[in-house]
Amino acid sequence: MEKIEVVPSLLSANFANLAEDIKKVESIGCSRLHIDVMDGHFVPNITIGPVVIKSIRKITRSHLQTHLMIDQPGKYIKDFIDAGSDTIIIHQEACPEIGETIKEIKKLGVKAGVSIKPKTPVETLKDIIQDLDLIMIMSVEPGFGGQSYILGSEKKISESKALLEEKGLNLPIGVDGGINAQNAPLVAKAGATHLIAGNAVFKGDILENIKSLYRSINQL
Ligand code: DX5
Ligand code: ZN
Repeated sequence: MEKIEVVPSLLSANFANLAEDIKKVESIGCSRLHIDVMDGHFVPNITIGPVVIKSIRKITRSHLQTHLMIDQPGKYIKDFIDAGSDTIIIHQEACPEIGETIKEIKKLGVKAGVSIKPKTPVETLKDIIQDLDLIMIMSVEPGFGGQSYILGSEKKISESKALLEEKGLNLPIGVDGGINAQNAPLVAKAGATHLIAGNAVFKGDILENIKSLYRSINQL
């Protein structure tokens, strides 16, 4: 099996002491952090903006992947890149001019990812996939941490893998939402290479949680 990375989703971390939680996940080898940005329009919840990412950037060298769950992401990508994001993930459903926005992200010197919601078919990625650095399959309806994994999402992961193979591409496939040590083997087997996890990392003993995620996929 390919090397798989656990990517902590900071939404479930302690926002009053983010630096400590970040140090903990890094102490056990995580070097990519997932940051959820929500606008109250594209999703019903509101989280953080560039100002928080700017502060996070100052205390870590980890790769920061910013998941924009916002309408009209094109309007804001520069702000999130200036704040220190290394990858910008936009939503296919939020972005009518997605090809242009992907180009714009890359022109600004960072990596571009596209995420799709549970009801959006993988084939909607087929014309843009060659321009991407990452694909991300949502395994919950975006908007909140701590939801249950939607069973069957692994099918979309295999479909993404097949599409990449068909195009001769080799990109990371992330899966985001409800990932834990029970379903990690399932999504890993389907082809996910980035397991994004919030609650399963930050609820309880962070170090033990990460170990148990890696153990579940036999990568510890
Ligand atoms: C959901 C977010 C996820 C979320 C994952 O809208 O995009 O990144 O934080 O959290 P868990 O792992 O708790 O579902
Ligand atoms: Zn996310």
